[in-house]
Amino acid sequence: MTTISNNKELRDFIIGLPKTELHLHIEGTLEPGMIFSLAQRNGVTLPYASEQALRDAYAFTDLQSFLDLYYAGAGVLLTEQDFHDMTIAYLKRAHADGARHVEIMFDPQTHTVRGVPIDTVFQGLASAARQARSQWGISSYFILSFLRHLSEEDAFATLEQALPLRKDYADLWIAIGLDSAERGNPPEKFARVYAKCRELGFRLVAHAGEEGPPDYVRDALDLLKVERIDHGVRSEEDPALMQRLAEMQMPLTVCPLSNLKLCVFDSMEQHNIARLLRQGLRVTVNSDDPAYFGGYLVDNYLAIAQSLDLGRDDLGVLARNSILASFLPDSDKQSLLNELDNYLAKHNVI
Ligand code: ADE
Ligand code: ZN
Repeated sequence: MTTISNNKELRDFIIGLPKTELHLHIEGTLEPGMIFSLAQRNGVTLPYASEQALRDAYAFTDLQSFLDLYYAGAGVLLTEQDFHDMTIAYLKRAHADGARHVEIMFDPQTHTVRGVPIDTVFQGLASAARQARSQWGISSYFILSFLRHLSEEDAFATLEQALPLRKDYADLWIAIGLDSAERGNPPEKFARVYAKCRELGFRLVAHAGEEGPPDYVRDALDLLKVERIDHGVRSEEDPALMQRLAEMQMPLTVCPLSNLKLCVFDSMEQHNIARLLRQGLRVTVNSDDPAYFGGYLVDNYLAIAQSLDLGRDDLGVLARNSILASFLPDSDKQSLLNELDNYLAKHNVI
């Protein structure tokens, strides 16, 4: 009984923390219920008899075993309305979790390969982002992410398709990311397309050190010149890299429930986020693909708070890091930081 009420109290405290979410794949927010309803709406046949049968298949052994289902699930997305419905459902949930700002990754290649025009994807995401901003006050940026299991040539072609739309979505599409199967697809493979995106003025992030070695984190910094590392948890295996990440205050967008589900760690008690935090790294908490990994933003904070014995002061630092690591203008960051300070003071957290 006490535990339940403590959990509620802790959950409410986490919800109230002014914070952002910086590592979220919009295709990873497709809940089984929505996959089934979009499949029905679009006449797509699914190889699962029920939502429960689909959910039962979410027993992953590694990143690839998840990606196979994730790409199959995204196959129900065909129309602008589909992309809008998926995105507004996530933004409603993020708002309920107390996220003030989110930076959303999307994988255009997953859709264009099926014949979905890239402007359908942009338009559906953008109409939801703009609606959420006016309805709930939550702001969004988009991170167009290249699939690293495909070629750099394919990434260049995607960039070329997307660039004419930049003027219509200048308020939203501000960054480039790199995701999908990490092992065997090192950062080096995308050095030229990242150099081009940098020249074009995009902010840069990349997945590295999720399943791949610490060398991939170093190469993401040196060869891709990223400003944030998505995941990065395997950096811990390399003390010199750890020192570098701490010194430069390089943000890591850590996703605890994802790491657990994809067997990066055997249990939440063994997750290294608390150690990374103690060593002075700018770590943030995120949900990655919440529909597949069993929890949204607040669930991730709650899971590490409970399993790693983090205090409210630690949770405050994580929320602060999420604001500092965002691509928001400095003035917006400052007002969120002020709100966070007031919130922590009100809750007697120094
Ligand atoms: N795409 C969606 N989720 C991902 C993850 N956790 N790692 C790499 N690519 C992804
Ligand atoms: Zn990810």
